[in-house]
Amino acid sequence: MKIGIVTISDRASRGIYEDKSGPAIAACLQEILTCVWEPVVRVIPDDRPGIDDVLKELCDREGCSLVVTTGGTGPAKRDVTPEATEAVCEKMMPGFGELMRAVSLKSVPTAILSRQTAGIRGSTLIINLPGKPTAIRECLLAVFPAVPYCVDLIG
Ligand code: MTE
Repeated sequence: MKIGIVTISDRASRGIYEDKSGPAIAACLQEILTCVWEPVVRVIPDDRPGIDDVLKELCDREGCSLVVTTGGTGPAKRDVTPEATEAVCEKMMPGFGELMRAVSLKSVPTAILSRQTAGIRGSTLIINLPGKPTAIRECLLAVFPAVPYCVDLIG
Protein backbone atom coordinates (compact mmCIF):
# COMPACT_ATOMS: atom_id res chain seq x y z
CA MET A 1 0.00 0.00 0.00
CA LYS A 2 1.34 3.44 -0.98
CA ILE A 3 0.77 6.45 1.28
CA GLY A 4 1.50 10.01 0.13
CA ILE A 5 3.01 12.39 2.68
CA VAL A 6 2.91 15.98 1.44
CA THR A 7 4.48 18.85 3.37
CA ILE A 8 3.04 22.13 2.12
CA SER A 9 5.29 24.94 3.33
CA ASP A 10 7.07 27.79 1.53
CA ARG A 11 9.95 27.76 4.00
CA ALA A 12 10.45 23.99 4.27
CA SER A 13 10.33 23.65 0.47
CA ARG A 14 13.05 26.33 0.11
CA GLY A 15 15.20 24.69 2.78
CA ILE A 16 14.91 27.70 5.12
CA TYR A 17 14.00 25.27 7.86
CA GLU A 18 14.02 21.54 8.14
CA ASP A 19 10.73 19.76 7.47
CA LYS A 20 9.77 18.15 10.77
CA SER A 21 6.08 17.57 9.97
CA GLY A 22 6.50 15.09 7.09
CA PRO A 23 8.84 12.87 9.16
CA ALA A 24 6.42 13.16 12.12
CA ILE A 25 3.61 11.80 9.91
CA ALA A 26 5.81 8.92 8.70
CA ALA A 27 6.82 8.04 12.28
CA CYS A 28 3.22 8.09 13.48
CA LEU A 29 2.01 5.94 10.56
CA GLN A 30 4.83 3.47 11.13
CA GLU A 31 3.64 3.14 14.72
CA ILE A 32 -0.06 2.69 13.86
CA LEU A 33 0.02 0.58 10.70
CA THR A 34 0.26 -3.17 10.87
CA CYS A 35 0.55 -3.69 7.08
CA VAL A 36 3.53 -3.16 4.78
CA TRP A 37 3.42 0.35 3.30
CA GLU A 38 5.52 2.56 1.08
CA PRO A 39 5.76 6.32 1.67
CA VAL A 40 5.69 8.69 -1.32
CA VAL A 41 7.09 11.95 0.05
CA ARG A 42 6.81 15.49 -1.37
CA VAL A 43 7.78 18.89 0.09
CA ILE A 44 6.18 21.74 -1.87
CA PRO A 45 5.43 25.49 -1.52
CA ASP A 46 2.02 26.97 -0.67
CA ASP A 47 1.21 27.51 -4.33
CA ARG A 48 -1.73 26.65 -6.46
CA PRO A 49 -2.08 24.99 -8.91
CA GLY A 50 1.14 23.25 -7.75
CA ILE A 51 -0.58 21.66 -4.74
CA ASP A 52 -3.48 20.44 -6.90
CA ASP A 53 -1.00 18.88 -9.34
CA VAL A 54 0.90 16.99 -6.63
CA LEU A 55 -2.32 15.71 -5.04
CA LYS A 56 -3.53 14.50 -8.45
CA GLU A 57 -0.15 12.85 -9.17
CA LEU A 58 -0.16 10.94 -5.87
CA CYS A 59 -3.77 9.80 -6.35
CA ASP A 60 -3.86 9.07 -10.10
CA ARG A 61 -0.30 8.16 -11.13
CA GLU A 62 1.23 6.85 -7.89
CA GLY A 63 -2.00 5.13 -6.87
CA CYS A 64 -1.74 6.05 -3.19
CA SER A 65 -4.56 4.66 -1.03
CA LEU A 66 -4.11 7.52 1.41
CA VAL A 67 -2.54 10.98 1.07
CA VAL A 68 -1.82 12.96 4.22
CA THR A 69 -0.91 16.65 3.91
CA THR A 70 0.57 18.95 6.53
CA GLY A 71 0.54 22.75 6.48
CA GLY A 72 -1.33 25.52 4.74
CA THR A 73 -4.59 25.08 6.66
CA GLY A 74 -4.55 28.36 8.59
CA PRO A 75 -6.07 31.77 7.76
CA ALA A 76 -2.86 33.35 6.33
CA LYS A 77 -2.98 34.67 2.76
CA ARG A 78 -0.74 31.86 1.46
CA ASP A 79 -2.68 29.05 3.26
CA VAL A 80 -4.61 27.27 0.48
CA THR A 81 -4.35 23.55 1.28
CA PRO A 82 -8.09 23.04 2.03
CA GLU A 83 -9.01 24.82 -1.23
CA ALA A 84 -6.62 22.59 -3.23
CA THR A 85 -8.02 19.49 -1.51
CA GLU A 86 -11.58 20.50 -2.28
CA ALA A 87 -10.67 21.27 -5.90
CA VAL A 88 -9.25 17.80 -6.57
CA CYS A 89 -11.76 15.73 -4.58
CA GLU A 90 -15.09 14.43 -5.85
CA LYS A 91 -16.47 14.00 -2.37
CA MET A 92 -15.67 15.84 0.88
CA MET A 93 -15.44 14.10 4.25
CA PRO A 94 -15.99 16.98 6.71
CA GLY A 95 -16.07 14.72 9.77
CA PHE A 96 -12.27 14.42 9.72
CA GLY A 97 -11.69 18.17 10.12
CA GLU A 98 -14.45 18.45 12.70
CA LEU A 99 -12.95 15.71 14.87
CA MET A 100 -9.38 17.02 14.57
CA ARG A 101 -10.44 20.54 15.54
CA ALA A 102 -12.47 19.21 18.48
CA VAL A 103 -9.50 17.20 19.76
CA SER A 104 -7.00 20.04 19.26
CA LEU A 105 -9.28 22.60 20.92
CA LYS A 106 -8.82 20.77 24.21
CA SER A 107 -5.17 21.87 24.26
CA VAL A 108 -4.99 25.00 22.03
CA PRO A 109 -7.73 27.64 21.56
CA THR A 110 -6.13 28.60 18.23
CA ALA A 111 -7.19 25.21 16.80
CA ILE A 112 -10.29 27.01 15.48
CA LEU A 113 -7.90 28.69 13.03
CA SER A 114 -7.29 25.37 11.30
CA ARG A 115 -9.49 24.85 8.24
CA GLN A 116 -8.30 21.28 7.68
CA THR A 117 -10.57 18.92 5.80
CA ALA A 118 -10.55 15.54 4.03
CA GLY A 119 -11.98 14.16 0.82
CA ILE A 120 -11.98 11.39 -1.72
CA ARG A 121 -10.45 11.46 -5.19
CA GLY A 122 -11.05 8.19 -7.04
CA SER A 123 -9.81 5.44 -4.72
CA THR A 124 -7.71 7.78 -2.57
CA LEU A 125 -8.54 9.37 0.77
CA ILE A 126 -6.85 12.76 1.25
CA ILE A 127 -6.54 14.10 4.80
CA ASN A 128 -5.20 17.54 5.80
CA LEU A 129 -3.31 17.89 9.07
CA PRO A 130 -2.16 21.20 10.55
CA GLY A 131 1.45 22.27 9.96
CA LYS A 132 2.74 22.16 13.52
CA PRO A 133 4.75 18.99 14.22
CA THR A 134 3.21 18.79 17.71
CA ALA A 135 -0.29 18.72 16.20
CA ILE A 136 0.45 15.85 13.81
CA ARG A 137 0.32 12.95 16.22
CA GLU A 138 -2.69 14.25 18.15
CA CYS A 139 -4.76 14.78 14.98
CA LEU A 140 -3.68 11.63 13.17
CA LEU A 141 -4.34 9.37 16.16
CA ALA A 142 -7.79 10.90 16.62
CA VAL A 143 -9.03 10.17 13.09
CA PHE A 144 -7.06 7.03 12.25
CA PRO A 145 -9.58 4.49 13.63
CA ALA A 146 -11.91 5.43 10.74
CA VAL A 147 -9.23 5.41 8.01
CA PRO A 148 -8.85 1.68 7.12
CA TYR A 149 -12.63 1.30 6.81
CA CYS A 150 -12.89 4.38 4.61
CA VAL A 151 -10.00 3.25 2.38
CA ASP A 152 -11.65 -0.16 2.12
CA LEU A 153 -15.01 1.37 1.09
CA ILE A 154 -13.51 3.48 -1.72
CA GLY A 155 -10.96 0.92 -3.02
N1 MTE B 1 -3.82 22.10 16.13
C1 MTE B 1 -3.08 21.61 17.12
N2 MTE B 1 -3.38 20.39 17.60
N3 MTE B 1 -2.02 22.27 17.63
C2 MTE B 1 -1.70 23.52 17.19
O1 MTE B 1 -0.72 24.10 17.67
N4 MTE B 1 -2.25 25.34 15.63
C3 MTE B 1 -3.40 26.04 15.05
C4 MTE B 1 -4.22 25.16 14.13
N5 MTE B 1 -4.37 23.83 14.65
C5 MTE B 1 -2.49 24.09 16.15
C6 MTE B 1 -3.57 23.32 15.62
C7 MTE B 1 -3.01 27.25 14.39
S1 MTE B 1 -2.35 28.48 15.37
C8 MTE B 1 -3.16 27.45 13.05
S2 MTE B 1 -2.87 28.98 12.32
C9 MTE B 1 -3.47 26.34 12.17
O2 MTE B 1 -3.62 25.09 12.82
C10 MTE B 1 -2.27 26.29 11.28
O3 MTE B 1 -2.45 25.50 10.21
P1 MTE B 1 -1.23 25.32 9.20
O4 MTE B 1 0.02 25.21 10.00
O5 MTE B 1 -1.60 24.08 8.53
O6 MTE B 1 -1.22 26.52 8.30
